[in-house]
Amino acid sequence: MSLTVDFKGKTVVVVGGTSGINRGIAELFARHGARVAVASRKEAKVTDTVAALEGHGAEAMGFVADVRDLDAVEAGLKSVHEAWGDFDVLVSGAAGNFPASLNGMSANAFRSVVEIDLIGTVHVMKASYPYLKKPGASVVNISAPQAFLPMPGQSHVSAAKAGVDMITRTLAIEWGRDGIRVNSVVPGPIGGTEGMARLAPTPDAIEKVAASVPLNRLGTPDDIGHACMYLSSDMGAYVSGAVLPVDGGWAQSGCGGMGAFLGKLVAQLEGR
Ligand code: NAP
Ligand code: COA
Repeated sequence: MSLTVDFKGKTVVVVGGTSGINRGIAELFARHGARVAVASRKEAKVTDTVAALEGHGAEAMGFVADVRDLDAVEAGLKSVHEAWGDFDVLVSGAAGNFPASLNGMSANAFRSVVEIDLIGTVHVMKASYPYLKKPGASVVNISAPQAFLPMPGQSHVSAAKAGVDMITRTLAIEWGRDGIRVNSVVPGPIGGTEGMARLAPTPDAIEKVAASVPLNRLGTPDDIGHACMYLSSDMGAYVSGAVLPVDGGWAQSGCGGMGAFLGKLVAQLEGR
């Protein structure tokens, strides 16, 4: 068997793929020959990303959908299937986050994040299943360290992403007989992203987070994309149900005291 990271002729769908890490993942697959579809809520972001993907020489398309809306997700994925046929790779990474204690947020605020991150992932999984018939089909869910490490101000994200990882592990079993592999990638702190801007809102905070990573730097969208490519290539053919941190060792160090930092940030935001 020849091992390859050439995705020529492969169909890759990245839900939530129009900014930050997920857009980086979409662009990396495009740069490696895949035809790539992206989806998110904002039409302008979808259009801009499709143009960028085409700029890499890739065939590209996109659709607008809020992952909380199963009908919209189904319709969008159907349109990709009608254009290109079954999917080789599905990346599901739509998410929302803001720092707030449970007491400092409404029930609807908690529900919003759970509905985007967790229920949205369920919608994407259910709507994609009929199109994951290709040999070697690979699903990668984008998780977060909050899934296994509690941090003040992140109860909504922790609950949602822990659920995402359990979906990954359950579907690895349920879908294994269909030849579908299902894995989670857990990014560490990734520079220049919305997620970082929300949790480390000043240059000083960003610098401290970077210094707290054992490898002494923030990650890049390409770092995460490379992991998605590995998992979705022949090299990952026997990997399923993995929850893979891609974080320069950050999780091993308790995420470098991020919990204590967020505790102070949330207290300040909430005037305590
Ligand atoms: P981002 O740029 O805000 O990316 C989120 C993406 O999801 C965007 O394309 C956004 O586009 C889309 N989206 C948000 N809500 C949606 C909804 N309801 N329906 C459909 N699409 C929706 O954030 P990011 O920081 O790069 O994070 C990307 C992923 O990595 C997330 O899953 C996050 O939890 C994970 N992560 C990030 C970090 C980090 O350091 N940044 C660390 C660990 C894990 P629209 O606004 O157009 O909908
Ligand atoms: N602190 C406390 N509550 C907050 C909040 C904050 N910083 N930001 C939003 N909320 C609450 C809102 O007040 C609302 O609750 P309410 O109806 O009881 O008033 C609830 O959360 C939903 O907010 P809304 O703006 O109506 O939701 P939305 O669906 O338009 O947006 C979010 C979803 C809130 C997650 C928004 O931040 C978002 O779209 N994020 C995507 C980008 C992102 O977070 N990227 C980082 C990914 S890691």
